[in-house]
Amino acid sequence: MQHKTVIEPFRIKSVEPISMSTETVRSECLKEAHYNPFLLRSDNVIIDFMTDSGTSAMSARQWAGVMEGDEAYAGSRSWERMENEVRELTGMRSILPTHQGRAAERIIYGHLGGKEKVFISNTHFDTTRANIEYSGAAAIDIPIKEGLYTALQHPFKGNMDVAALDQLLKEHKGHVGAVILTVTNNSGGGQPVSMANAEGVAAICKRHGVLFLLDCCRIAENSWFIKHREEDMEGLSYREIAQRMFTLADGAVMSAKKDALVNMGGFLALKDEALAEACINLLIITEGFATYGGLSGRDMEALAIGLQEIFEPHYLDYRIKSTLFLGKKLHEMGVPLMLPIGGHAVYVDAKKLYPHIPPEQYPGQALVCELYELAGIRTVEIGSVMFGTYNADGSLKPAPMELVRLAIPRRVYTQSHIEYVIETFAEIMKRREKVRGLRIEKEPRSLRHFTAHFERLER
Ligand code: F0G
Repeated sequence: MQHKTVIEPFRIKSVEPISMSTETVRSECLKEAHYNPFLLRSDNVIIDFMTDSGTSAMSARQWAGVMEGDEAYAGSRSWERMENEVRELTGMRSILPTHQGRAAERIIYGHLGGKEKVFISNTHFDTTRANIEYSGAAAIDIPIKEGLYTALQHPFKGNMDVAALDQLLKEHKGHVGAVILTVTNNSGGGQPVSMANAEGVAAICKRHGVLFLLDCCRIAENSWFIKHREEDMEGLSYREIAQRMFTLADGAVMSAKKDALVNMGGFLALKDEALAEACINLLIITEGFATYGGLSGRDMEALAIGLQEIFEPHYLDYRIKSTLFLGKKLHEMGVPLMLPIGGHAVYVDAKKLYPHIPPEQYPGQALVCELYELAGIRTVEIGSVMFGTYNADGSLKPAPMELVRLAIPRRVYTQSHIEYVIETFAEIMKRREKVRGLRIEKEPRSLRHFTAHFERLER
């Protein structure tokens, strides 16, 4: 019998209670958090869709690996396991362990960046952009134009615009720090990148003699889309697809907190030994010795195992299809979404959901607050709060899209949690015209979404 029901391909061995709360309590919590979900206590959250990063449930095998961790300062056995696993996957020789993705970003982009340098990406993730800009360099996003229309269907909306890349590499000759392909394209709606696009980018980089890096934190999920959507790819395993993509790049940065199914960890992988040597110096100064970076032996052990589990076909199939299930149900209810649905999250188009709230009043943040107040669902705005800047006259220069991300932690929530979220959206749709926007009361100089304070606007 061929079943239509996609079941979680695991049994639950250990559980963590959720503390339930009332709407009245949540309204109070939200006010105290200045309408910023980053300032909420997790104990006051029922379903935490803020991020899929570091929030995975580890397997029994990974927990067993934790007990095996070798905590030696130098030459640890657990480092050997992690290094071998990453080498085998990426095909790259030099592997640098880091405590998470942004530590690897700071090392490589700090080294390659500086004034007058530019970095080009399908879309830089916020910490990637911040690390590049902090070095004094500029970060330019060139997603394909289809990627900017949420309702438009395209199998690989995360792709980079290769014609624009060629043009930019000519314009900025001699000043390009690196070209970064983010798979999947998280800030661009979690959309996948095709192998053909990665090949195109690699060929152009080679022709111009510039460094090509992968931001590969969701490369296993990206491989699922390639296998099922791209021609001539169905014969390869998910792991072989990822391996093929790695052969195209000169290096890779990974936040292992996503696809490597760990709560902490990351790495930088490089082919060029001289570049790796310069980065290892920075690693030792700021993260830790070259055989642990910022990680404990037990973290490295869990990471090595997670990198194997993530390519398990039943797991990946369940992962992508369960995200798709949530997206499909919301789409059927008329919730405006980024389509097609990506791998790790469902993105709501808040500009379309709340057309009466202008970008200056942050429609995405308004939805984030609604979801929390109504149901204790924590999400994150990926729009003008995260990426908006100011014009010279002090007016807001809005982000290209006003999205809200429902990021789904790996192996954590079950079908009934998802049903609860779907039920909440029915109420969100009913109340959509009554919702008000917000204004920013206080904000830091960079990465303002983490700590800004908001105020709800009166009608
Ligand atoms: N690159 C991408 C594409 C990411 O999504 C993230 C993190 C990073 C780099 C940085 O990694 O957090 O380990 O330092 N994304 C998380 C998210 C935070 O919620 O999407 P990190």
